[in-house]
Amino acid sequence: MKGFVPTPRETVDTMVELLFRDRSPAPNNTVLDPGCGTGEFIDGVIRWCKRRRLVLPRITGVESDARHLPVLHAKYKGHRAVHIEHADFLTDRRTTYNFIVGNPPYVAITALSEGEKARYRACYATARGRFDLYLLFFEQALRSLAPGGQLVFITPEKYLYVETAGPLRDLLARYHLEQIRLVREDTFGELVTYPTITVLHNRPPGRTQLMRRDGSTVTVQLPAGRDSWLPLLEGAAPQRAAVVLGDLCLRISCGVATGADSVFVRLADSLDPAIRCFARPTIAGRQLTPATTDLPQRFMMLIPYDVHGRLLPLGRLGALRRYLMRDDVRQRLLARTCVKRKPWYAFHETPALREILRPKILCKDIGETPHFWVDRSGEIVPRHSVYYIVPREPGAIDVITRYLQSLSAHQWLVQNCQRASKGFLRLQSRVLQRLPLPDDVAQAAAGGRPERVFSFAVRTKKAINIESLPDSRPIDRCRCVSPAVYFGGDKAPWGMICLGVCGLDHRSWATASTLFSYISITRLYVFPATRSS
Ligand SMILES: C[S@@+](CC[C@H](N)C(=O)[O-])C[C@H]1O[C@@H](n2cnc3c(N)ncnc32)[C@H](O)[C@@H]1O
Repeated sequence: MKGFVPTPRETVDTMVELLFRDRSPAPNNTVLDPGCGTGEFIDGVIRWCKRRRLVLPRITGVESDARHLPVLHAKYKGHRAVHIEHADFLTDRRTTYNFIVGNPPYVAITALSEGEKARYRACYATARGRFDLYLLFFEQALRSLAPGGQLVFITPEKYLYVETAGPLRDLLARYHLEQIRLVREDTFGELVTYPTITVLHNRPPGRTQLMRRDGSTVTVQLPAGRDSWLPLLEGAAPQRAAVVLGDLCLRISCGVATGADSVFVRLADSLDPAIRCFARPTIAGRQLTPATTDLPQRFMMLIPYDVHGRLLPLGRLGALRRYLMRDDVRQRLLARTCVKRKPWYAFHETPALREILRPKILCKDIGETPHFWVDRSGEIVPRHSVYYIVPREPGAIDVITRYLQSLSAHQWLVQNCQRASKGFLRLQSRVLQRLPLPDDVAQAAAGGRPERVFSFAVRTKKAINIESLPDSRPIDRCRCVSPAVYFGGDKAPWGMICLGVCGLDHRSWATASTLFSYISITRLYVFPATRSS
């Protein structure tokens, strides 16, 4: 049954209460429960109306799974106000409803057929990246909500912050999202989804109340656009940063996934000296604790790749080949499903050794609080449960690490990271990439050369978001230069930025940023304001 998870009665009643809080349904009003399962919300609406001795509004339950139909038909046989549609809610629908309430299916993209994925991508703005069906249900429900109508959904909280849900946030922010209520983790028993009730009105945007799991509340104005709402909901002021961690790093990524650590990761002490030349010290997340000062090197990873990440032919693996060909080892490797289209002794993911084997900063993928460790030697190969951050300038490693350990970085991470179970933080590379760096940290990390800071930004983003440059920077005018021509030289003092765009003052820079996609900026220089004309 695709995404069938019945909603407990207590939660249904809370949601129906929220649905009719502003106005009770009139008999000619319409109520929709999309993906109605066995009718938990229909029952909830009937209960609510019965308690108040109200005539039922016209209720429609849409369910695609035929197995629920006998239950539904038997239940609502005597209710003329209830209509059950055996249909796919995600196909083209024209009807609108005054009230929509439900628990959409949580179905990951991996459970969809190629045909379904293509169809949804063509019809839904929210079907982007690794989408989930509940995002599409939200979009379809918004299309089906009559002007002035109310919607109450229970879904995973992830839509508030994951990148995949950016298009949904963009849509939702066009309505009045009255309340976001983070409800108990165990609402659906074992199934931990961090459930969230969303209360929305089809009217122009207004302020939103967030009710947290600890009962505390905050009222905010949600921003337009796709950005994560998490920082705002966590009470952070919006931050504007010219430079983010990703600008100063060659790579921020999670460690190597072999797909068979029991084969490739061996105790250093018991390693056959003949295969030592293929072994590198490795570390897993569980070996990193706040008390860890010296990175332990008890384990070695056997790596059948060269430093460019090319898988070595078996014939060049010597003693490692003999080990991999051992019957038990070979069988274990062949049993992996993750490398079906690769040579049988390949890793699950090709290791980016050129970047990994550099001085780098390490952190656990999931932890109670963010902690960072430095691998100065650059020899350690992080396992999949460890993230690694490789600064472009090896000399910047201490400046960056000090900042990562600081209170402000800590607060930002707490406000921006997804939650794993027990409230632990999930440090994903996408989030780490966006960590804003204060100017002094960015400049120190760039070796005290501000023009490098900006060229990092350009190189990685193709265009600087001009709006995000700090107000304090003395930017007056942008001088006319072609991408290949620039003023001054390496020793020019800074104060003004010259870009490869013609004749724009700073007010026009937002326009300039769109031009950046058409030109390639090779160098960026910072000039004193007095040199502008
Ligand atoms: C999470 S369950 C919720 C069931 C019920 N509303 C409740 O809260 O107890 C989601 C339901 O949506 C149904 N469903 C999944 N995809 C659907 C689709 N495309 N159209 C209609 N129903 C769908 C599933 O069969 C399932 O019964």
